[in-house]
Amino acid sequence: MYCSEIVGVGGYVPEKIVSNEDLEGIVATTDQWITTRTGIVERRISTGEKTNHMAVKAAIKAIKHAEIEIKEIDLVILATITPDFFTPSTANLVQGELGLKDITSFDISAGCTGFIYGIQIADQFIKTGKSQCALVIGAEILSKVLDWHDRNTCVLFGDGAGAVILKRSSREGIICTYTGSRGDLEGLLQVPAISVKNPFFTNDSISENHSYIYMNGKEIFKFATNIMLKSIEKILNQNKLSIDEIDYIIPHQANYRIIDYVAKKIKASPGKFFKNMDRFGNTSAASIPLALDEMIAKGIIQDGHRIIMVGFGGGLTWGSILLNWTR
Ligand code: ACO
Repeated sequence: MYCSEIVGVGGYVPEKIVSNEDLEGIVATTDQWITTRTGIVERRISTGEKTNHMAVKAAIKAIKHAEIEIKEIDLVILATITPDFFTPSTANLVQGELGLKDITSFDISAGCTGFIYGIQIADQFIKTGKSQCALVIGAEILSKVLDWHDRNTCVLFGDGAGAVILKRSSREGIICTYTGSRGDLEGLLQVPAISVKNPFFTNDSISENHSYIYMNGKEIFKFATNIMLKSIEKILNQNKLSIDEIDYIIPHQANYRIIDYVAKKIKASPGKFFKNMDRFGNTSAASIPLALDEMIAKGIIQDGHRIIMVGFGGGLTWGSILLNWTR
């Protein structure tokens, strides 16, 4: 078995900043409601860029940071719930745009946990010798699946992309991965796709296709706090570590109240859980790599730090990763 480590990180967000005050002009909401309930102050919104465009920009930054040649990449995994097409996959588009030849590339759909799933899969490809250098991306244009008349959801999300380069290594970077899912809870968080409608089946009650995010906020809140705790504890126990032996936790950036609740429950010191949803909102599969990118750019993460990434999302899905930062 080989080891794998993250050797490069890149993030990209659209230029357009939409503040809570801007949303006050669109739905019946207030800056105060959004800030106190979620911690979100502003978000970035695409004014035309597609998911693959943002993914490529984040990928190029990660490739530069890793100081590798593009042609070294032999695997592209892209996590998204907002692809540009049903087919081709967004990973295929990124592969083509980067000029990569004849390599494996595919999308995965695991909601906001997609990036964690992506790292887990790439790690397995590398550890078993199938891949030597993987590009893993989380990229979302959630603004296109938001009902901009629904104040329950449209204030929560933003657009963005984050990418990492995961390479075969003699050092143990990715130490442990854990994922899970509960499809029986699918109704709590959904973006519907196209309904069945063809010459052999017509149902007049199915009129328009509205691919908008639906979420049961209260139930998701309860689920998220429990599963984040479980996912962190699982990985700590498996590796016989205490929370004090972890330098930073990078959680999915949905809501600061979820994160603060988990931090308090697990008795983590203040500041151990990184938060940046104030400036980006919830960017689903992009939120964890975007946070990682910011932490590295600011010098928060240093060589030798032990880090947990943890997420939850539609599916419902969840997962966590324990890693050593080795750069
Ligand atoms: N502005 C003003 N009022 C609002 C808004 C808004 N944007 N949205 C809802 N309200 C109103 C509601 O209509 C309701 O009014 P009512 O009492 O007259 O019916 C009132 O505020 C309270 O609504 P609740 O839904 O009870 O508000 P709650 O305190 O639960 O907060 C929230 C809602 C922030 C969504 C919360 O449930 C939450 O954080 N849930 C977690 C879900 C989450 O973060 N999901 C992220 C996406 S999932 C993922 O990333 C995997």
